[in-house]
Amino acid sequence: MYQLFFNLIFRRMDPEKAHHLAFRWIRLAARTPVLRTFVAAALAPRYKELRIEALGRRMHGPFGLAAGFDKNAVAIDGMTMLGFDHVEIGTVTAQPQPGNPKKRLFRLVPDRALINRMGFNNDGSASVAARLAARNPVFPTTVGVNIGKTKIVPEEEAVADYVTSTERLARHADYLVVNVSSPNTPGLRNLQAVEHLRPLLTAVREAADRTVTDRRVPLLVKIAPDLADADIDAVADLALELGLDGIIATNTTIARDGLGLTSDPALTAETGGLSGAPVKARSLEVLRRLYARVGDRITLVGVGGIENAEDAWQRILAGATLVQGYSAFIYEGPFWCRALHKGLAARLDNSPYATLAEAVGASAREETAA
Ligand SMILES: Cc1cc2nc3c(=O)[nH]c(=O)nc-3n(C[C@H](O)[C@H](O)[C@H](O)COP(=O)(O)O)c2cc1C
Repeated sequence: MYQLFFNLIFRRMDPEKAHHLAFRWIRLAARTPVLRTFVAAALAPRYKELRIEALGRRMHGPFGLAAGFDKNAVAIDGMTMLGFDHVEIGTVTAQPQPGNPKKRLFRLVPDRALINRMGFNNDGSASVAARLAARNPVFPTTVGVNIGKTKIVPEEEAVADYVTSTERLARHADYLVVNVSSPNTPGLRNLQAVEHLRPLLTAVREAADRTVTDRRVPLLVKIAPDLADADIDAVADLALELGLDGIIATNTTIARDGLGLTSDPALTAETGGLSGAPVKARSLEVLRRLYARVGDRITLVGVGGIENAEDAWQRILAGATLVQGYSAFIYEGPFWCRALHKGLAARLDNSPYATLAEAVGASAREETAA
């Protein structure tokens, strides 16, 4: 049904326009009292066995909306209504910015992928903080806040820029993410190098502790799939050293491996970050590498090319306590979370593990034992 709708309507529209249209419908439905109850009941049935505790929060399940879909925190209720177990808003920057010129989002339909060079278009951390402060949730959930660097701020002033956003946003965040991995802000990914990342994460941690004194806001870092293996290890070691709460792996890739089905080579040549099915293998590999290094000491969040319950299950077995998705939502539509939860619950029921938490990292542990 959604496939037909996608092919007839969305596929013929500019991808960014289609996004805004779908977004408007979701927000409208979430604002309409009887409708939203009906939609949530249909699309977000809860499974007791999928409940999980992570980052100091009890969640209905492990599957969240990845950053970038709701950049300005305007549709948290709507996305929860559709079944996501947590919503990561952002990336938010200290200053509002328009992002890159359009067109900046491309669908590679046969490859079940997207390329984007949005460039952190967002309202800025002051506006987003005010919106979060005024929020009166209909569907309570876990809200992650993902922050990044304002484009016009030079790299030498990056730390201050992140600190400004932290001071404004930390109190509204169930967890905070330092994004240093988007390919569309020049120089941003250089911040993943440990010599830059250490002072950045230390300053953000201090700013969060300074502004939020009644609890400890969990802090995570989001990394790119394009990091060399040695750099992944270095980030993992740094995360342990600094007492970080988690690592999100991964963002989009600048590589173009795994493509080939798309009919239009002009599309694959577009600059930007590639997401969806082609990033699946590398994201899983990065996750496995991280889990081998940090084990259960840090919460790992698996994202990149998750399309169905099996993909999510494989990430959990590989060490992810939480999983997230974005691109497949465009192709699978509003029934995506429902199908994914159902499949995940079935996999858990048929597994030797009593709880989802027990399944986290199980395949990695088995490999070590063998
Ligand atoms: C259009 C688009 C915009 C995105 N914007 C952000 C962003 O602002 N911040 C961020 O951390 N990740 C962003 N991402 C990356 C996603 O959060 C996710 O890490 C990546 O797409 C891989 O997951 P997927 O294959 O399920 O899409 C964006 C992805 C897409 C497709």
